[in-house]
Amino acid sequence: MIRIQNLWRRYGSNDILKGLNLEAKKGEILVILGRSGVGKSVLLRHIIGIEKPDSGTIEVNGVTITDLKKNQIYRAVKDMGMLFQGAALFDSMNIEENTAFYLKQHGDLVTRKRLSPEVIKEKVKNALAMVGLEGTEEKMPSDLSGGMRKRAGLARLIVYRPSILLYDEPTTGLDPITSQQINELIVKTQDELKGTSIVVTHDIDSALYIADRLALHQDGQITHVAEPEAFLNIDDPVINFLRENLKHNHRKAK
Ligand SMILES: Nc1ncnc2c1ncn2[C@@H]1O[C@H](COP(=O)(O)OP(=O)(O)OP(=O)(O)O)[C@@H](O)[C@H]1O
Ligand SMILES: [Mg+2]
Repeated sequence: MIRIQNLWRRYGSNDILKGLNLEAKKGEILVILGRSGVGKSVLLRHIIGIEKPDSGTIEVNGVTITDLKKNQIYRAVKDMGMLFQGAALFDSMNIEENTAFYLKQHGDLVTRKRLSPEVIKEKVKNALAMVGLEGTEEKMPSDLSGGMRKRAGLARLIVYRPSILLYDEPTTGLDPITSQQINELIVKTQDELKGTSIVVTHDIDSALYIADRLALHQDGQITHVAEPEAFLNIDDPVINFLRENLKHNHRKAK
């Protein structure tokens, strides 16, 4: 469970987060929609503890991480993983090393044991196959297309199996078939781990496929949170636009 209360963050003279409140419950996929530049990536970076707010609190499974020092935050968010917008792979590591990174660093999150190189290799192979990147272990990030890099970032996240998963634009820039595979993978991973997933996206079709609840980020705050059907019925200019631009008549496919 993640509880964000009255979060404020300013860069220079720009207030980006302006008293933002949001809760993500255990067991749900919460999707955050919002226009470009409203601060969605900024919000995720605060949740995973790599940025500190000017004021306000973020509680993760009962621990107020915004009260913690840097090294304590690192421990508190061990069970959290993020797919960064633009994938953020390590350029000097090949795809196998990139995918294995957190596994090597933290071992098995449940048993807290270190994993043998053979086990890691097998897990990495399976994760790459799940995102359609089988056989790319030896390739360097620069050898891959943008969409492939994004999928490698996703493999690195799901192989690690954290119980809180943050995804920043997981399907942006991917073709529709790959996007749908990623949507299915997000839902499958969530069902297996029974944790909490927060997904930031522009893609309303993807959002409606994966979301248990939808939130709208506008002008530094979360202005609406609701289940998909109720969300689409909210009378708000952004939501009206999204509703009018739906590609499909969705039913939640879970
Ligand atoms: N480290 C930083 N220093 C200064 N300004 C920043 C920093 N990080 C973010 N910003 C500003 O905060 C605002 C929100 O950025 P953010 O990346 O969160 O937007 P976003 O909602 O994720 O947009 P997009 O949908 O395009 O990814 C932008 O105006 C950005 O320039
Ligand atoms: Mg962003």
